Amino acid sequence: MRRPATPPVVVVGAGVAGLSVALSAAPREVILLDPGGIGSSRLAQGGIAAALAAGDSVRAHVADTLQAGAFHNDAAIAWSVIGAAPDAVAWLQVMGVGFDRDGQGLQLGREGGHGVHRIVHAGGDRTGECVVAALQARLARAAHVHRRTGASVQSLLMRGRNVAGVEVRGDDGRIEVIEAGAVVLATGGLGALFERSTNAETTSGSGLALAMAAGAHTRDLEFVQFHPTALDADGPRLPLITEALRGAGARLRDHRGRRLMRGRHPLGDLAPRDVVSRRVWEAGRDGPVWIDATGLTPGWERAFPTVAGTCRAHGVDPRTQPIPVTAAAHFHMGGIATDALGRTSVPNLFAVGEVACNGLHGANRLASNSLLEGVVCGRWLGAHLRLAPARVSHEDAFRTVALGEGLGASALATVRRTLWHAAGPVRTKLALASAIREIRAMAASGWQARVAQAVLEAALQRPASLGAHWRVDA
Ligand code: SIN
Repeated sequence: MRRPATPPVVVVGAGVAGLSVALSAAPREVILLDPGGIGSSRLAQGGIAAALAAGDSVRAHVADTLQAGAFHNDAAIAWSVIGAAPDAVAWLQVMGVGFDRDGQGLQLGREGGHGVHRIVHAGGDRTGECVVAALQARLARAAHVHRRTGASVQSLLMRGRNVAGVEVRGDDGRIEVIEAGAVVLATGGLGALFERSTNAETTSGSGLALAMAAGAHTRDLEFVQFHPTALDADGPRLPLITEALRGAGARLRDHRGRRLMRGRHPLGDLAPRDVVSRRVWEAGRDGPVWIDATGLTPGWERAFPTVAGTCRAHGVDPRTQPIPVTAAAHFHMGGIATDALGRTSVPNLFAVGEVACNGLHGANRLASNSLLEGVVCGRWLGAHLRLAPARVSHEDAFRTVALGEGLGASALATVRRTLWHAAGPVRTKLALASAIREIRAMAASGWQARVAQAVLEAALQRPASLGAHWRVDA
């Protein structure tokens, strides 16, 4: 057992949020548990939204955030996170992120729900990858951080009501106990629990499951964002066709080649994501739906290397052919309930990034506000932990709260199919109630089923449509 004199902070997850916490907690000792693999941060094609343009303002960015979130947002959080966005972009530049530039300075793109161009990118549509790479390079030089790759958290260690560390299983299968003054869950969302998803297979709600097991409060679990333009392909993860492509002028078309969003919303193809996803879902019942980039200025692929490469890998030349797309689970607005500093209802347990819900996104996240949240809230939490004394009660004996077994492949496939059909872009009471009965029977067999059940129950409890939660029977 590892017993340091001053308990370190354990950060679980090495996406943008986890890395920002780790870097900002200096000089406090941090153990960063990096599960390896590809998380949502690295997959992020969209960039970071910040009111940087002349004529733009924090007020306008907040207004678009609240509008997209169906006003279910915590407005105070939205003001503070969005107010910190320009500073977050500047910090990332100091960390070594080279954002794309044009003749005027930082190049600003546009995505769904934004009234103006306000999104910075790096490497075109490789923003997440570039940001993670820059933060990792910084981390490699940070003496206060010990990075452990391939370790997966099995349990939270508790003393009385306080979290006091973690039990991890290493690559070699050995279990190790790490005592900590604070545990930060930065484990990402749960999109992979849906059959159609843009998330990596490992993004399936393990952090949320662990927090639920420890009795942490959750919030807004029913709000899952569906991205309207995942490549319509086979496989557990559908590649994303970034919304920025529509920002650059690409257009959605139905199976007859008609403009899908014409007359549907004042922002047309750049309407908020929930609106466009439902339209794609609806039109998909009649035939394939396409995103058409053939009319863009020649050479556009240079700004979208990921999209262009993905299409080619799937036999589509996006310069001359429309790209087949589908709606797919993309982002979880709900999660472990936290305040702005990532504090959960369980002492010494913190959550940040997609696994957390502080109310910023409301019922539907505004595009490119999530890397932003990871950086801003990650930095705030890191600074808080730098100063926060650990609350440790040495009188209480250790006990563990375990994540428990995961589902086998066939049961997991059932959960994914059930969640997609009952809690996908369109929901009904009947489908939700029947899915709950099916999933409840599996809840003892694996934590993924318990997370799925919690999402379904939250969706059933909200009879009216709001944001990304669309009840057609309301
Ligand atoms: C996208 O590039 O379309 C996704 C951006 C985001 O999820 O914010």
